[in-house]
Amino acid sequence: MIAETPVALAERAGRVFLEAAQAAVAVRGRFLAALSAGATPREMHRALGREPLRSGVPWHATHIYWGDERYVSAHSPESNYGLAREDILKHIDIPESHIHPMPVDMDPEAAAARYEKDLPEVLDLLFLGLGKDGHIASLFPGQDALREQKRRVIPVKGGVPRVTRLTMTLPAINRAGQVVFLVSGREKSAVVRTVLEDPRTQLPAACVRPVHGYLSWILDREAASRLSKPSWDHPAPRHT
Ligand code: 6PG
Repeated sequence: MIAETPVALAERAGRVFLEAAQAAVAVRGRFLAALSAGATPREMHRALGREPLRSGVPWHATHIYWGDERYVSAHSPESNYGLAREDILKHIDIPESHIHPMPVDMDPEAAAARYEKDLPEVLDLLFLGLGKDGHIASLFPGQDALREQKRRVIPVKGGVPRVTRLTMTLPAINRAGQVVFLVSGREKSAVVRTVLEDPRTQLPAACVRPVHGYLSWILDREAASRLSKPSWDHPAPRHT
């Protein structure tokens, strides 16, 4: 769907989180969600940390994971977990044992293996951002990591900041029950168009094809501004 502004995008994404949480808890008694990193989801995280979403989400039955992490201390401004702690986690009443940051205090290979053990086979909801170069999580164009078939979490190097990172791989991402891209800003409009409209593209974002789940995109008007298909230009009905 297309939201008018970044704020509307954050609100819409927060509602998606809320509805997915309520549905998963009603059916399975727990909700397994993975957050994405970067600037775009921060507003959604803040919205989840305040009313009305804060008291709507069944936090006691929610588990939070991350799609990727920079290999830096949790106190670093580059830490995805650290930012999420500020934006959302410290404002909600969630058991500490339900928060699953990627470990950054051991050898990266060991950390990836450890996280893979901790990671459920199927997440209920996974958010992804989109880099201007078409990357998702810490899967960058042209890297071998994109071809990983078995491991669900691996260490990689790349991106900005150019540090070692841990990332979920496509097999983990594509197993999620619901994958939602959050993309904001005119500087993303060209890559959004490529990923959504060029059937030949091999960019990482185009490799997201949930095996059994749903894929959706929440764009703001600027990120959607170069899409040519008119169907993309209709705001989604309010209740979908
Ligand atoms: C990272 C993220 C990355 C991010 C996109 C979009 O570590 O940088 O994992 O995949 O989600 O780059 O980031 P923005 O929302 O800041 O544009």
